[in-house]
Amino acid sequence: MRLEPFITAGVLVAWAASEMCAQSPAPVGLSLLANNGVIKPITFYGNPPRFISEIDLVFTAPAETADQGIEPLKKFAGVSDLDWAGTKMVDEDWRATGKTFKRQRFYRNAAWMNSDSRFTLSAVTAAGKRIGPEIRLEAGRDDLAGSGDMFVRRFVARQIANGCKSQGNCDGAEFSTQALIQLRVNKNPNASAALIPVGAASLELRWSQNPKAIYKVGINHATESGAPSGYGFELTLDLSKPSNGMYFAPNESMTLRPAFRDGRGRELFPDHQMPTYAQFVRDDVPTGLGYYSSRIDSTVYYALKHREANILVALAGPLEKLRVPKSILNGERLLDSEAVTATVPADGFSSVFTGLPNFSISLGPPAGMDQPITDLVTLKVPADAQPGTYVAAVKSRRIFGGEALNRAGVAFFQVSTTAATTFKPTTGHCESCHQGATAFGNVLHGVADRRACYGCHMGLSFEPDNALDFRVHSIHSRSRRFGADVQKCSVCHLSPVTGPARGLLAHAGF
Ligand code: HEC
Ligand code: HEC
Ligand code: HEC
Repeated sequence: MRLEPFITAGVLVAWAASEMCAQSPAPVGLSLLANNGVIKPITFYGNPPRFISEIDLVFTAPAETADQGIEPLKKFAGVSDLDWAGTKMVDEDWRATGKTFKRQRFYRNAAWMNSDSRFTLSAVTAAGKRIGPEIRLEAGRDDLAGSGDMFVRRFVARQIANGCKSQGNCDGAEFSTQALIQLRVNKNPNASAALIPVGAASLELRWSQNPKAIYKVGINHATESGAPSGYGFELTLDLSKPSNGMYFAPNESMTLRPAFRDGRGRELFPDHQMPTYAQFVRDDVPTGLGYYSSRIDSTVYYALKHREANILVALAGPLEKLRVPKSILNGERLLDSEAVTATVPADGFSSVFTGLPNFSISLGPPAGMDQPITDLVTLKVPADAQPGTYVAAVKSRRIFGGEALNRAGVAFFQVSTTAATTFKPTTGHCESCHQGATAFGNVLHGVADRRACYGCHMGLSFEPDNALDFRVHSIHSRSRRFGADVQKCSVCHLSPVTGPARGLLAHAGF
């Protein structure tokens, strides 16, 4: 009985969608990264309407031998005009880096970080004449949940001390400083989309906090038909069939194939050959797929994690046993063809993962950078795998023709039984804030299924905060835009918690 209106609505939606397609292509996001004010030229394919999906302005002052906090940054061209009044150190982080240590100090509360600001993007001809509509983007305030157009707004500064002799002693270290203006996940992409005229030779980005500066990006226009790929990005994970046709056995090999496609379903690597790591490093990847790069120097919450582009392929299960692994993965194990990340005796479930390309290539000697990389990934079902349903996951990032998208693929398979088992979450309510434009499929790395988190987020010897609880507590407690009391554990926890919230920083550190 309820079928009829449902069908009518469905038909109407389909009709409206086809009408819209006939009129104009779907809007395409524009990601802008300026390093010390410089944005790499972008090639636009065709002329879809565009909206701003990411802005990252990164200002890095040269390294110094004396520890002057972030004073050098305040004098650095590009950010010296900002209002630094109120700046406070809010957080500190230490990492072992081989024989020495790295210390990072994070600063917030500067007037320019806190207050309301906006960006405008305008198109300019080769002769320097402004054409077409101006695209406006409200950055909102640091402390106001929901303010501004972007879900994620992180305006911070950091000091990076490399080569500290021991934890607590940075004598003789090298101190560099960085300001980061980071905005991502546009909540109203369609409303703010505009056509950039084909006569545009460049775009000019202006920011109300620094009115004298213009961040300029050169634009090349190319046709869609000659393009190496199309806009949009989809990722699925295809799994090989078990040898008995029903379920995998412990120790059985499986082939996992991440299938990378553009928005029209065309495969980026139909012959299974992915770019080599050397091509990625040379910025010579026409399809725009990214690989892990340590050059970004990303840090949880504060710096550029969404740009890390680390492709991981993981499997974990059985689902009813999934939890944050107690095991800590030794960083050296990353170079294994597959790293064991959770075991039944230690964690109650089994999990393995690998980098794509394997970390022996991305972290290895330059000589290995030309090795061919295929999208056929082999993982062995762990020897200790218990019967039940398992999850496999992959994530990746692509920047193509100015558009940056992070996508994930998730798949399920059975081990030792055809009987399906189900996940028992201990946290939830996430969807009260994460829905629509801010749903998990659209934020950060695009992992929409929470059962997938556990295979990738265990503590690492060099990065304990990779553990899922650490990460989720870290980002939400540092955010002043959470819109709830992060100290009220029941905002996310479904039952009373025992133990402290790892990674949680009270009042965002200030
Ligand atoms: C396939 C592996 C994989 C899966 C699955 C995965 N992550 Fe991640 N996650 C990563 C990696 C790698 C990073 C580091 C940044 C990057 O490369 O994207 C990361 C970063 C993060 C961060 C840090 C963000 C920041 O701003 O510092 C959070 C939070 C996070 N993940 C939460 C989750 C949650 C929640 C899930 C499940 C819904 C999940 N992850 C699933 C691999 C994964
Ligand atoms: C009360 C609202 C609220 C709830 C509940 C909530 N989140 Fe969030 N989440 C946010 C906000 C706001 C941000 C963006 C924070 C910022 O950048 O300032 C965010 C960001 C994230 C991100 C993206 C991080 C990035 O770096 O891009 C992930 C992943 C995430 N949340 C996971 C979760 C998970 C998992 C849960 C449930 C266990 C959850 N969130 C519950 C409000 C919420
Ligand atoms: C924004 C959501 C969020 C809030 C708020 C939150 N947590 Fe969590 N917490 C998580 C997530 C996500 C995990 C990872 C475990 C999972 O989801 O399976 C976790 C895990 C934990 C764990 C580890 C459980 C285990 O599996 O070993 C503890 C302990 C914990 N939280 C304590 C707290 C305390 C104490 C508070 C309140 C002060 C708190 N959390 C608030 C999201 C949250």
